[in-house]
Amino acid sequence: MDQIKVRGGKKLKGIIEISGSKNATLPIIIASLLTERKVVVRRVPDLADVRTILELLTFFGADLNFRSGLNGKILEIINTNITVKKAPYELVRKMRASVLVLGALVARYGEAKVSLPGGCAIGTRPIDIHLNGLESLGASISLEDGYVKAVAKNGLIGSEINLPKVSVGATENLMMAATLAKGKTVLFNCAKEPEISELGRFLNTMGAKILGLGTDKITIHGVDELIGTDFTVANDRIETGTYAIAAAITGGIIKLQGAQTNHLFSVFDILSKTGVSIVEDSESVVISRDNEILPFDIATQPYPGFPTDMQAQVMALLSLASGSSIITENIFENRFMHIPELVRMGANITQEGPTAIIKGVKKLKGAQVMATDLRASVSLVLAGLAAEGETVISRIYHLDRGYEDLVRKLTNCGADIERVAGI
Ligand code: EPZ
Repeated sequence: MDQIKVRGGKKLKGIIEISGSKNATLPIIIASLLTERKVVVRRVPDLADVRTILELLTFFGADLNFRSGLNGKILEIINTNITVKKAPYELVRKMRASVLVLGALVARYGEAKVSLPGGCAIGTRPIDIHLNGLESLGASISLEDGYVKAVAKNGLIGSEINLPKVSVGATENLMMAATLAKGKTVLFNCAKEPEISELGRFLNTMGAKILGLGTDKITIHGVDELIGTDFTVANDRIETGTYAIAAAITGGIIKLQGAQTNHLFSVFDILSKTGVSIVEDSESVVISRDNEILPFDIATQPYPGFPTDMQAQVMALLSLASGSSIITENIFENRFMHIPELVRMGANITQEGPTAIIKGVKKLKGAQVMATDLRASVSLVLAGLAAEGETVISRIYHLDRGYEDLVRKLTNCGADIERVAGI
């Protein structure tokens, strides 16, 4: 398996072009299953997770064309010949978001079979809210041989659904399913992540009738069919936050081209409180740090609170702060696997259940470390950029899931980083 080697201590300086949003792109690609017309999606990031979902659509019978364009990759999808409505274990286990095909397939075809996703490194990640919601829409749900089967031979019926817990995926799954249900659906206690609004905007360009995007109450008036569309995906806010921390942790200055602060306010608010300088114009955000890193306490929350997807990255930064910080992870039950790896690099971090206490140290030292999940792996890259000496990160296939061209982007800012072929 490939490794990444980072020789730290350089102040990064340069420009990084932010790619399209992974967590908007994945449900948008899946939503193309709701129409037989041609769908074009622009600025699609070329990521392992995107490749996995395209593999799944091909398995269903989709006709795909994924090519480079002037401003990022362009994906054309035609789902006229979907013959298979079963998502197999070997694909679903690679990426939990595959479960999102359930709502789209049962809404369009009246049937769907999806392998249970199983947990993943960061937690058990059940799908009970997805399944109960689809039952409220009239689907009959059964579990057999590790697969979830959803059937609605006469189509789905609009309903009022109160989500018992804020869930990004369940909100997306049910919103997609409801676009073709008969009558009105109202979802209460929805997640409000920008990626959900992006998916809703995409669906509305296909003729869906979705109201309340960005709020915790989303109303969907079902329509008979959806049409094709040509849609450009917004930039990835978590990638933006990640590279903002690359500038902060190295004490450099990076211009994040195409970035904006409004969908990451909670992160930029904390970065400014830890002493990071943030200058925004209409097309970019410039991040720099000259002073010491001030400690700060953080608790992850659903949007607009501090995003769990930025927790590991900020922990790397706070491990070099001039005092102690507390991070509480409220979303996933096992999203601290980067702690022992950061400790191997000299960080002083202890965990008590959902809480991590980070006592800032003067410096980190390069070490051999192991990536465990997507955001944990990038926190090790960030720590390696600031550490003295060489850090070697293994199992970097986790990184490939969510960061397009990471080595090139950091190299262009002066990082001494390379990807070495697996041994
Ligand atoms: C999405 O995952 C994102 N993935 C995650 O990003 C992100 O961390 C997460 O939302 C929270 O913001 C994509 O968008 C592809 P949830 P999702 O349903 O939808 C529990 C990354 O790094 N829950 O909001 O799976 C669940 O166990 C990835 O890019 C149930 O109990 O997250 C968790 O504790 C990682 N029952 C909490 O809700 C359910 O039916 C939030 O999960 C569904 C979820």
